Amino acid sequence: MKIGFVGLGAVVQTAYLPALAALAEDAEIWGFDPDLTLSGVNQAQSLEALLALPLDRLVIATPSLLHLPVLEQALASRIPLILVEKPVVASLAQHDRLQALLADPAVAGRVLALDHWMARTAVQRLLSGTLGADWQPLTGEARVRPATIQDVAEVEGFLLEPCGIDEQGHPFALNFATGEPDQRTFHHPDGVILDIGTHVLAMIRELLVALGGGDSLHLIAEGVCDRLGQPIVLGDLRTAEGRACLRGEAAGVPLTLWLDKYAGPGVEKKGLSLLLKDGRRLELLRSGNQAWLHHHENGVLQRWQLEGPLYRDCIAETLLAPLPAKGWQGTTARRLQEVGLLLELQQLLRGPH
Ligand SMILES: NC(=O)c1ccc[n+]([C@@H]2O[C@H](COP(=O)([O-])OP(=O)(O)OC[C@H]3O[C@@H](n4cnc5c(N)ncnc54)[C@H](O)[C@@H]3O)[C@@H](O)[C@H]2O)c1
Repeated sequence: MKIGFVGLGAVVQTAYLPALAALAEDAEIWGFDPDLTLSGVNQAQSLEALLALPLDRLVIATPSLLHLPVLEQALASRIPLILVEKPVVASLAQHDRLQALLADPAVAGRVLALDHWMARTAVQRLLSGTLGADWQPLTGEARVRPATIQDVAEVEGFLLEPCGIDEQGHPFALNFATGEPDQRTFHHPDGVILDIGTHVLAMIRELLVALGGGDSLHLIAEGVCDRLGQPIVLGDLRTAEGRACLRGEAAGVPLTLWLDKYAGPGVEKKGLSLLLKDGRRLELLRSGNQAWLHHHENGVLQRWQLEGPLYRDCIAETLLAPLPAKGWQGTTARRLQEVGLLLELQQLLRGPH
């Protein structure tokens, strides 16, 4: 397989390349980045040169505001599947433009709006009796009763990231994969609502759809503040949100999302909690290269554990998988709907822009 990357930054280096080394040693990897070359990646001299190659897959991993312009150029090539990193677009104008482009089924069939968290499917697998053997039971073999969307009482998602504290006592971000200080300064639109809200929302929407839920989605934002705890004021188009709580419903199910990029040194909580009407609660939790699945019922806790890098499953199921018979249209439409809603929430806070 020949795979091209546009942008060779942190996510390519820490997520894609290690996964490809483990899963697809024979893959021929090409890339274009105006500022970077990487060993093991054949260097194209321009985006045009990259797009002229007979690639099987293209991954767009540039900063988010460039996803759409690069995608539009890539759609003019012959590449059969173009994967776009999250968030698929970064402004409402881009959202509307992409929605119009995807109205053409020939275009929609070639675009996968990718969020690595959408591959965190352990809860739906547990509830449908298809949990993979790679999930080790920690509390003995257990039979779990199935559930569908009618059985769901509420769902919560959380992405609380650890941070560092500088000499002035101010929090600073850490790299999502290495835990080293992240030297970048984040600005709008790369605040938590869009940048990490997409992850939790993608995971929860795929869960609800797998349980038979529809596409409805409504959210409001509460308690939004910046890295230093100051509220985001109307007219501020620069400061990134550092913390937010989003509340509403998805597929008719009450939904709350807790997002915090500066939760504190050593403070980390990433995953979801699904409450069923019969009182059972299922949790999917992740830290580093480990994930845990919890099933609580009548005070009895059953646990499973998975070892392995987060990105590997997603890359195996998307980038390296054959094109699904029905294409990726439904997935891409959900990601675009989520990003559109998150961008609207950002706009409500800041005013039109
Ligand atoms: N799914 C995930 O878990 C995850 C994690 C991190 C980042 N991401 C997404 O991946 C994308 C990249 O993030 P990152 O952390 O790697 O950022 P990064 O800043 O480390 O890398 C972006 C790279 O794009 C390059 N670039 C800029 N303009 C370009 C152009 N016109 N053509 C080609 N390359 C260009 C830059 O030189 C840089 O090397 C973002 O959209 C981000 O939201 C996803």
